[in-house]
Amino acid sequence: MYTQDEQRALFERSKQFLQTGIEAGKSQQHQLDDLRQLIIYHEYRYYILNDPVVSDFEYDQLYKLLERLEEEHPDWVTPDSPTQRVSADLTEDFQSVPHLTPMLSLANSYNADDLFEFDAQIKRFINADPDMDIAYVVEPKFDGGSIALVYENDKLTRAATRGNGVMGEDITANARVIRSIPLQAAFSRQGIYRVEVRGEVLIRKDNFKKMNEQRLAEGLPLFANPRNTAAGGLRIKDPKEVSRRGLEAFIYTLGYAVNEAGEDRLGRFETHAESLDMLGALGFKVPGPERKVCPNIREVVDFCLHWQGKREEYPYEIDGMVVKVNDRQLQERTGFTSHHPRWAIAFKFQAKQATTKLLNVEYQVGKIGSITPVAKLEPVPLAGVTISSVSLHNEDFITSRDLRLGDTVLVERAGDVIPYIVKALPELRQGDEKPIVFPKYCPVNDTATPVELVREPGEAAWRCPDCVCGAQDLERMIFHVSKDAMDIEGLGESIIRRFYELGWLRNIADVYRLDYDRIAQLEGFGEKSARNLRESVDKARQNPLHRLLHSLSIHHVGKKVSKLIAAEINHLLDLRNWTVDDYLHIKDIGPVVAENLSAFFHNARNVEMLETLETLGVNLRQTDEDRPKAADASAPLHGKTILFTGSLQKMSRKEAQEKAEAAGAKNLSAVSSKLDILVVGEDAGSKLKKARELGTVQILTEQEFLELVS
Ligand code: IVH
Repeated sequence: MYTQDEQRALFERSKQFLQTGIEAGKSQQHQLDDLRQLIIYHEYRYYILNDPVVSDFEYDQLYKLLERLEEEHPDWVTPDSPTQRVSADLTEDFQSVPHLTPMLSLANSYNADDLFEFDAQIKRFINADPDMDIAYVVEPKFDGGSIALVYENDKLTRAATRGNGVMGEDITANARVIRSIPLQAAFSRQGIYRVEVRGEVLIRKDNFKKMNEQRLAEGLPLFANPRNTAAGGLRIKDPKEVSRRGLEAFIYTLGYAVNEAGEDRLGRFETHAESLDMLGALGFKVPGPERKVCPNIREVVDFCLHWQGKREEYPYEIDGMVVKVNDRQLQERTGFTSHHPRWAIAFKFQAKQATTKLLNVEYQVGKIGSITPVAKLEPVPLAGVTISSVSLHNEDFITSRDLRLGDTVLVERAGDVIPYIVKALPELRQGDEKPIVFPKYCPVNDTATPVELVREPGEAAWRCPDCVCGAQDLERMIFHVSKDAMDIEGLGESIIRRFYELGWLRNIADVYRLDYDRIAQLEGFGEKSARNLRESVDKARQNPLHRLLHSLSIHHVGKKVSKLIAAEINHLLDLRNWTVDDYLHIKDIGPVVAENLSAFFHNARNVEMLETLETLGVNLRQTDEDRPKAADASAPLHGKTILFTGSLQKMSRKEAQEKAEAAGAKNLSAVSSKLDILVVGEDAGSKLKKARELGTVQILTEQEFLELVS
């Protein structure tokens, strides 16, 4: 539809508008024409191709500019302006279905002033006193894929994507596998026969992370971000695959409701909050504590700014808050434009995406010799920091995105997710971009003989099999002293690097041969810090065996495997005599891990290093902590199975599970007849319902649980 040259020109022109806005000396009408074309292009990239080249924030800025110009020059507004229509074309993959009422967009605001203006505008529109207080509901603006669910006679009969707002795509089969979408809901109790509820399909950030970790381990291409994974998930042709994505649906509005005679039933709810409460009571997932009824716009502003600061703590991706007039009659009086309701506005958080140039790729060697490509970028500000370097993970990450040196790339920094490249923008290529050639030999090794890299079947990374240069040893030392491994306080990554540069550390054994007098002389240290460091190192010498084993950076030998092995041996060097089969006899140890362990302990250099550690006073013997604990029958939850649901207020889910385990319980992940105890936090949903139905599950509040285990 657009040639590469056209796309490049549209992109450049967009950037120009974003930088300079509307320019005073030039023809306003030409600028309006340009803006209109730019927005049509960006909408095509977003809605039709599902592949935007500017961030939502940038798109919104352009849209606002267009709105402003059109407001100033109403006679220049054309019927094909993006502001004048709700519709765009659809892709043809799913059957098109009409929404019961159009799914409109929202107007946007970016700061407190915009919100005050929104409030003032409503009062002007209804000729109200400017000092009057209007109550608003503020909710998260979920960043996923929108859906509209139709229930008839209490049954889910249809689910559709937003599509162009008037027509959506029928994705009923997919919606049925999303657990937070009830297949039945008792609307008839409200006198409602046909209803359309609307919401957003999302993936929890931690689930997304886990899913990608799993994919990385399996060598599968990674998902770009939770939003695309959720929105894309709705349109997968195979509902089974959809169910594996862990999608969840939050419902945020009741779009349409009639009784059997076709008469409106929306009017029976006095407020928006009341309709959400009703939906919650019917089993829908609705925004919980993060939703607030604010008595006036000042509190709205406070609440929005509060969430702007806490956005990253929210378990789902949100890109802003949505402010809605609470009173339904007032909503009706203000009505809609062709684009959005006048009674609602989105408060958008700062941008998280930006475009920049990929200048170069450097390669780092990890603790087990994995080669990680790192992209060097033209520095670009993004959500409060400047990004100039991002990991490209592995060769497949580069090939799956067809990244090239010199490409313009879209970078995203989403909360606790470290910055990454979402994609390249091939339509902006000039022709002089160069392929990224993954090295064949260890890129760090500077000895005369190059070391050829290997990639095992099923592994995503290329590795340097027997690294003789220091890069791997350095990474191993950093891991060795880390919290999860030997936990040597005061000896973090930067100090290890510093001592390494000084030539004081070459391998793990050197950690136990440090010269504390010399350290005391170092800038930033002194007697006291040196003494503290000595104490931490001495303490680490006494660590249980499983910590030492974990700290050795044996591929795939993590905390859990280390504990399993340590429980079986008296002395670490006993493993010199173990065969692969011996390892396989331990439950939960598979062939890959067994091979890795066996290879490590049959390597003379490793054995020698461990012997040296022992002469340096490091414990290689099994300690009490390594021995498996006999199940304590007096533990408060001995032999019980337990599950946590809803959001816990006093501890994280992980802490709760650890407490339960320490008290003798086993954590389960689903409600079934095997479950003994369900601990319910706030907004517990379907799990609580199911447990109640079973009738055999003991249901505890968070407080009751804490009292039981403390
Ligand atoms: S209300 C007529 N509430 O934002 C009212 N929308 O730009 C229309 N969205 O695609 C929407 N969270 O899917 C509303 N709490 C929320 C929302 C929300 C996310 C999405 C919606 C739409 C877009 C509007």
